[in-house]
This record gives sequence, C-alpha cells and structure tokens, in this order.
Amino acid sequence: MNIPRVVSHNQPADLIDCDALIVGITPGLDKTPTIVGDVLGEADTAWLKAAAVALGKKGSLDEATVVPAPPGCKATTVILVGLGPKELTPSSLRHAAGSATRAAGPVSHIAVALPVDDAASAQAAVEGALLGGYRVNAKKKPTDDPDWATLTIVGTDKQGALQAGAVIAESVYLVRDLVNTPPNDLYPESFTDHVTSALKGLPIEIDVLDEHQLAEGGFGGILGVGQGSTRPPRLVALRYRPEGATAHIALVGKGITFDSGGLSLKPAASMVGMKYDMTGAATVSGVMRAVASLHAPVAVTAWLCLAENMPSGSAQRPGDVITIHGGKTVEVLNTDAEGRLVLADGLHAASEEFPDLIVDVATLTGAARIALGERYAGLMGDQLATGLVAQAAESAGELVWTMPLPEELRKGLNSDVADIANVATGSSLGGMLVAGLFLKEFVGPRQGQPADDDSSAQIPWAHLDIAGPASNTSSAYGYTPKGPTGATTRALVNLVMAMDSDAVASLVQ
Ligand code: BES
Ligand code: MN
Ligand code: ZN
Repeated sequence: MNIPRVVSHNQPADLIDCDALIVGITPGLDKTPTIVGDVLGEADTAWLKAAAVALGKKGSLDEATVVPAPPGCKATTVILVGLGPKELTPSSLRHAAGSATRAAGPVSHIAVALPVDDAASAQAAVEGALLGGYRVNAKKKPTDDPDWATLTIVGTDKQGALQAGAVIAESVYLVRDLVNTPPNDLYPESFTDHVTSALKGLPIEIDVLDEHQLAEGGFGGILGVGQGSTRPPRLVALRYRPEGATAHIALVGKGITFDSGGLSLKPAASMVGMKYDMTGAATVSGVMRAVASLHAPVAVTAWLCLAENMPSGSAQRPGDVITIHGGKTVEVLNTDAEGRLVLADGLHAASEEFPDLIVDVATLTGAARIALGERYAGLMGDQLATGLVAQAAESAGELVWTMPLPEELRKGLNSDVADIANVATGSSLGGMLVAGLFLKEFVGPRQGQPADDDSSAQIPWAHLDIAGPASNTSSAYGYTPKGPTGATTRALVNLVMAMDSDAVASLVQ
C-alpha cells in the first residue's frame, strides 16, 4: 500500500475539509471525558463532549469512536480517540493515533488534531496514524473505495519530524506488504526483484548471489535449505555507504519465503502462516529504505538470506552434513531448523567485512512464541550489543526482552560427525536460547583477532527472535493490525540513526 501525502495545518481544526478529524479525549477529574486541546471552538467542543458522555466513552486508550462532526466543523466525521489517564508520551500518542485511523474506514483525507507540541510527538502521531491506517493489498474484487490520499497533522510546524515519521511508516508498510504477499508469488528471486524496485532511487548498492555464485562461494547453509525447492535461493547484500561514515552496522535477515519444514515436514496446521518466515529479510530491507532516505551518517549492510524450505527428491535429509560459508560443518538433524542454517552463512559473510556491530532478525523459533507471546521479541547476544538494541527499541516504543545464552545448553548441539548439529537431540528445553547459541558460533572475530571461542574477541552481535511479534494472530490494537506487523523495523532504524561515535566507542570495551 502507498502512504498518503503528509501535510501540516496551522489554522483552527474546524476549517479542515476532511473526511475524518481525529480528536483526543481523556478521563477527566470529574469522571466525565475531557476533550483534549483547544482545537475546536467552544460550542463544538461542548458538542463533542456531550456526544462522548451520551455514548458512555471514558477516554481510555484503545477507545476510538466515529461520530458526526459538530455543526461548526467542516469535517464530515470526528473520531474521538481515548488518550488514557496517564501522562501523554510519544508511545501513547502513536498508539492512540493508530486506534483512530484503524476506526476510520476507507476515506481519502484524515486529519489529526492531537497534542503534538514537540518533534517527537509530531513524528509519533504520523507513525501511529499511518501504521493504523495500513490496509492489505488483497487479491479481491476491486471496490469503489477511495484511496487514502492525505494525512493532515494539525498544530505543528515540525516538517522534519513529519517527514521522518512518513519515511519510517512507509518502510514498515514495505515490510508488511512483503510479508502479506502470498508465497506462490514471493520466492527468493521475486523477493529480490521486489526489494530492488522498492529501493530504486536510493543510494543503495545491491549485490545478488544466485545459486551458482552461492555454490562457488561455499554458502552451504542457504544452498542446503534451498535445494528442495524448484525456486533457487539467493543471498542479497544491500549496501548503504555514506561519505565519511564513522561506523558500519551489518543487519542479517532470515528470508525463508515458505517454511514447510522440508523433509522434517511440519504438520498441516503448523504450516499455515509460514509465508511469514521471510519477515527478518523484509525487516532489514525496510530498515535500509528508511536509513538511506533519512541520510543516516553510518554505513549499513543488510544481508538477506533467501530460500524456500520444501520437501522433495532433491531436498536435504536429516543426517546430511553441510559446510557453512567460512568452513564450519553442520549436521542437519532436523530440516525444520532451517533458519539458523541460512543465517549462519549470512552471519559469517557479514563478519568478513568486520562491521562494528551485527544484528540478525529472524522468525526463528516456536519456542520464542511460547516463552514471550506475540508482543515481545526475544533479544540475545553479547551485553554491549543487546544493550544498544534494547535502548533503540525503547526509544521506538517497541517491545523486546533480553534473554540469556546459557553456556551449558551448548553441549546439546555437539555432533559426532560435524562441528555442530543444528538441533539438540532428545531435548527441546530452551529452544529459543539453543538457536541463539547456534548462531553465536558463526559470528566472526573482531578485526585483527584470531578466530577462537573467546566471546570478547567476537564482533559485537545481537540476535532478535521475532517469531512472536512479527505477526499478530489475535485482533488489531493501537497501530498494530491483525497479521504482519513490521515489528522491530522502527527499533532498528533508531539503532542505526543513534549510532554515533559514542555508541561505537561503547562497543569496544
Ligand atoms: N520458522 C520456524 C519458527 C516458527 C515455528 C515460527 C512456529 C512460528 C511458529 C522455524 O524454522 C522452525 O521451524 N523452528 C523449529 C525449530 C525446531 C525444529 C528445533 C521450531 O521452533 O519448532
Ligand atoms: Mn522451520
Ligand atoms: Zn523457519
């Protein structure tokens, strides 16, 4: 879906000729709802308050009610949206703006008259409104519904913040669009084409390795996972290198365009939804789009590890031993633990360039969903790197939870025939953590350090298991729709944008 144009408006909100005008309400001290801000005239404000009282609205967060516009207001409808009883923050504004646009239905012009006094609030209002207004490009009979053409933000002149919010929301749209695309249409090659066209015009170099080049380069993880499919795998590197960059961040995304499990076939019910298994690759693509548009001052390389995991006569077998880029061997005991195999290649390739920080993003384990549910991403890695990612998530209003990588679980991955096995046999305990421990083995040493097992010699690395928050299988809330969410895209954009020399220095302790 395309985002509408975003404009500001510095006249009274009554004058905006829009389809829906979003106005905030909070639970007042006298238990009756209060209309927030002096955005409308006295009579119209009283009219809206009476409407809120009559409808029993309290002003709690998540409440959004469409009412006719009051007589003095040029809008067609007003959406009364609860801002909650607590002090307003960019997060609550983002949430409320999203609840409101989600309630709006198909209209062409929405205006937001919420309190957006500073740049952070203005940006949050734009992000929330746009993210809540996202609609799936469904393959259905076309309707006469108008396209959403304009989003007006009332009462701010912070153009930079509005445009930053628009850029970031547009990147989240890209992630959601890619994840929503059915897997018959989205496979490694077409994924590459989609991303290439989404990045057109931006200062991003794109290197694509096809199956032959992957074989030449020794990318045994991506090839092994992809070999069961008639649609061959790809490794795509997206490079953004601004002049004078003081740091280099590598992002590695799991891009399984469909995860059937391979010969370790998933049961029918577990396969439903597995088109979303490319969300990590979509996420890092969205991040690249945003940071290049926002002129981030640091170099960023995104590695998209793309393969379709299918069972067939050419598929890899449980028992196969494959060689990951860089030479480590893996005994594949379960072909459904495929994400870690493609990421192993990606992490090693990323490490060869000695970036200051590597972050991988993956819908990696069902165990992450069991442990953390659908709202928190699991965050693992070394302390300095996870600290930076956690801070970035916090600043974006996104939820991550730091999890350990317990050393004693590593021996479960010991193999008699290879350097490591891809799953622990006989135990599924700590599945999210075991997957993290596996990935850690493929993070290379810092420049000038010998490759050994000493973690302090490793390139700072964080791993985000987004198997939970990548998709919302319950009903929509705030700016989060049902289905693909784009979770952690905004966090990673903030991570890149905040990577100044102090942040880099903090990683070299
Ligand atoms: N893509 C799945 C992770 C997943 C599973 C996401 C269920 C959402 C719901 C991943 O490739 C996978 O299949 N992981 C296995 C690992 C196991 C074989 C060690 C899992 O979690 O069951
Ligand atoms: Mn799998
Ligand atoms: Zn998978």
